[in-house]
Amino acid sequence: MGAPHQMLAVHIAYIEDARARGAGRGFGTRDNSVVSDCCTPKGYRWIFSERNARGDAKRYRRKGLDPTSRRIVDFVRGQGVENRTVLEVGGGIGSIQIELLKAGAAQATSIELTPTYEEVAAGLAKEAGFTGRIDRRVMDFADAAGELEAADIVIMNRVICCYPDMPRLAGAAADRTRELLVMSYPRETWWTRIALKLGNSALRLTRREFQVFLHPPNGILAATERHGLRTVLNETGSFWTVAALRRSA
Ligand SMILES: C[S@@+](CC[C@H](N)C(=O)[O-])C[C@H]1O[C@@H](n2cnc3c(N)ncnc32)[C@H](O)[C@@H]1O
Repeated sequence: MGAPHQMLAVHIAYIEDARARGAGRGFGTRDNSVVSDCCTPKGYRWIFSERNARGDAKRYRRKGLDPTSRRIVDFVRGQGVENRTVLEVGGGIGSIQIELLKAGAAQATSIELTPTYEEVAAGLAKEAGFTGRIDRRVMDFADAAGELEAADIVIMNRVICCYPDMPRLAGAAADRTRELLVMSYPRETWWTRIALKLGNSALRLTRREFQVFLHPPNGILAATERHGLRTVLNETGSFWTVAALRRSA
C-alpha cells in the first residue's frame, strides 16, 4: 500500500453510513452472499479506487511486498504454510495470497468489501499462474463469515482499523481460523492518535464520509482470544503492529 494511504486515508471506516444502517455495527445487512457494487460503502470506493488498485499492483510488480506485508508473509512461512488453506480478508490486490501460494499454500480465498480491486487482482493472479487457486469474493466479511469455510491461515492486513465494529470483525476472523490468524493494525501512541485525529478532521471537512479507527490493540487481541485463540506474536513496527494468534489445542 502506498504512502499516501498510510497515515490518513487507508484505515478508514464509513461511520455515518454504518451508524445509519447498523447502529454502530457493520455496514448493514446483506440479503445474499455477494454484496454488489451498489452496497459497498461509497467512501470505500473513493479511497480504495481502481486507480489506487492499479498503483498498488504497479508497486508490487516493481518492488514486491511492502514491509508490513513482508513481515506477515515471513512470519507465516516460519510457522509453516505448506498445503495450508489461506483466507485473506480485505486483501486488496491479493499480493499476500500470491506470495503464500508461491511458498506452498494449497489454496487462497479473498474476501473484499470493495469491487475495485477485482480486475487488477485477477491480472496479478494470472501472471503468477494462480488463477484457479484463488477464489475472490466481494462481500462484507463481518456479515458473511458464517457462510464461508474456515481456513488454516487467516490474514487481515491493515483492515481492522477500517471497520467500526472491531469485536465483530475480529471475532468473525477468529471463528474462521483453524490454525493461525495474523493481523496488522496501527500502533496506539500519542502521535498516531494525533495523526489519525487530524486525518479524520480533514476527511470530515472534505465530506469524504470516512473516519479512521484506532481500535485499542489490547482490545483487538482480547476480542480474538475470546474466540479460542492465543497470542503468539505481538510485534510493533514504526507504524504497524503485526500480531498473530493460534487456535489453542
Ligand atoms: C487499508 S486497505 C488494506 C488492503 C491490503 N490488505 C493492504 O494492506 O494493502 C483495507 C481493505 O480492507 C477492506 N475491508 C474493510 N472492511 C472489510 C470487511 N468487513 N470485509 C471485507 N473487506 C473489508 C477494504 O475494502 C480495503 O480494501
